[in-house]
Amino acid sequence: MREPVISFQNVSKSYPLYGHIQGIKNFLFDVSRSLAAIKKERFEALRDISFEVYRGEKFGIIGRNGAGKSTTLGMIAGVLKPDRGNIIIRGRISPLLSLGAGFHPELTGRENVILNGVLMGLTRREIMQKMEEIVEFSELGEFIERPTRVYSSGMMARLGFSVIAHLDPEILLIDEVLGVGDIRFQQKCLNKMKSFQESDVTMVLVTHSVASVVNICSRAMWIENHVVKMIGDPIEVVEHYCEASNVPFNLNTVNKASL
Ligand SMILES: Nc1ncnc2c1ncn2[C@@H]1O[C@H](COP(=O)(O)OP(=O)(O)OP(=O)(O)O)[C@@H](O)[C@H]1O
Ligand SMILES: [Mg+2]
Repeated sequence: MREPVISFQNVSKSYPLYGHIQGIKNFLFDVSRSLAAIKKERFEALRDISFEVYRGEKFGIIGRNGAGKSTTLGMIAGVLKPDRGNIIIRGRISPLLSLGAGFHPELTGRENVILNGVLMGLTRREIMQKMEEIVEFSELGEFIERPTRVYSSGMMARLGFSVIAHLDPEILLIDEVLGVGDIRFQQKCLNKMKSFQESDVTMVLVTHSVASVVNICSRAMWIENHVVKMIGDPIEVVEHYCEASNVPFNLNTVNKASL
């Protein structure tokens, strides 16, 4: 039987809810006790979610703003810990979670490629072998020699995607950040992701683009109100999601759309 590379079993995650300061005077009078009281109140971002992703699958996650998609991806990446439940990950994770995450602002683009490669467990030699491919794909030109703190959001996304897509990925995690790239770069990313379609690379793609889910993914999950609403065929999941969002869904236009 196939073994899942990502497995979530009854996973819940909550965040402290900082929003109930009753009386600023009382709060300032005894800050530590007030903070302890506030921290007790928690907001449940994900409730009892279970799903599995198998090797080579292209798994899309969709849902409204605040549904819990990025929280799910953060837990796959290991940057967030669940409160309850089990998470099993088998394989090396290449995450693109938010713009500039994983980049040191004072290092140049090129130096950040090396830093990321090392953090992903590759040797310097392996990284240098891929360097020119990464630089070329990013189309950053002379900006590759500049510190990433001077990058625009699109430049950050370009470097981020180029790094994770070329450094021998096993499990790719992508959280919507490609939307800030210009249309040409978005198309290039789409083509790159499609090139993984027949490969062993496992991909988890969080996106608000139903066209991406239909065009790239082999299975999709819809998270609604912090729980799993549906898992299955991307077209069926997107259809139900669009219906619930009162948005017309037309497979023809979606198939023609790029991202
Ligand atoms: N660090 C945090 N502290 C407190 N609450 C948080 C934190 N991060 C997320 N949340 C809350 O958890 C819920 C899920 O957030 P999450 O970022 O996972 O949503 P999302 O599905 O990725 O939304 P979007 O489509 O807007 O990116 C939201 O209600 C959000 O307010
Ligand atoms: Mg998000």
